[in-house]
Amino acid sequence: MESGAPSQREVLFSVRNLSKVFPDFGGKGGGFRALSGLNLDIFAGECLLVAGSNGSGKTVLMKILAALMDMSGGEVLFRGLALGKALPRLRRELGLVFQDADAQIVGETVAEDVAFGPKNLGFSGSALEERVNRTLESMGLSAKRDFPSRDLSGGEKRRLAVAGILAMGCGIIIMDEPFANLDYFGVLQVLELIRDEKARGATLIILTHELEKVLAFADRLLILDRGKLRDDGKPEDVLDRLLPEYGIRDPRQSYRSAGDCTWLPA
Ligand SMILES: Nc1ncnc2c1ncn2[C@@H]1O[C@H](COP(=O)(O)OP(=O)(O)OP(=O)(O)O)[C@@H](O)[C@H]1O
Ligand SMILES: [Mg+2]
Repeated sequence: MESGAPSQREVLFSVRNLSKVFPDFGGKGGGFRALSGLNLDIFAGECLLVAGSNGSGKTVLMKILAALMDMSGGEVLFRGLALGKALPRLRRELGLVFQDADAQIVGETVAEDVAFGPKNLGFSGSALEERVNRTLESMGLSAKRDFPSRDLSGGEKRRLAVAGILAMGCGIIIMDEPFANLDYFGVLQVLELIRDEKARGATLIILTHELEKVLAFADRLLILDRGKLRDDGKPEDVLDRLLPEYGIRDPRQSYRSAGDCTWLPA
């Protein structure tokens, strides 16, 4: 397994032999292994795509990297420091878009929600206002700025979650299923954000099974399958090696007519 990222780049996260075991509710004992023996380095400035079917461990990995969940074994370093020690820096540098957009809502109104992160980072007055306005505009939420956040539609909540992270200007962004619930324009807006953040030099970690939407921006593709890291490399190479058991559709397959447009092979 070769890595697609150049080795001379600064390592942000070092993951060594990481495992996560949840208590077993089935009575069999031994627990449920959500992650087993993961080894990977994540480099500054790369756009890393983590693909895997439902339950493969993507969100658990994200939560552990973000120090929101304990690991059961192994080690994760952030900039060479154990996560516990690196916590203040990690909190400053890392922005998260959660899979569950509702879990991310912190402000009563849309504008208050977007302002929350930058305020915590010390922005105020016109600098804060300008940031919030620009971000709402880029995620198509300007008209909803005084709307109660909780009453947004599912896709609007996803836009809001992305807007909140964008407004913080974080150097590292992890997005868990950022396209879920989004309509066509919503997907385009998130893709533009990914493109712009990448150009700005941000490190992007995108967890998704919707490869076809974003693969072009990926420097590296990881495949998680039942808690194991099955592949890690340049997207083109990893796709050439895809196994059916990973449950991932090769997005290079195209459609010729409306009659071909289904994911279920004829
Ligand atoms: N708190 C928990 N307690 C017990 N099991 C858990 C817990 N959180 C996750 N799991 C289990 O760990 C496995 C991996 O979950 P995870 O949420 O990481 O999957 P995922 O790859 O993000 O899937 P999806 O594509 O559906 O979002 C799943 O089988 C899940 O049931
Ligand atoms: Mg998930």
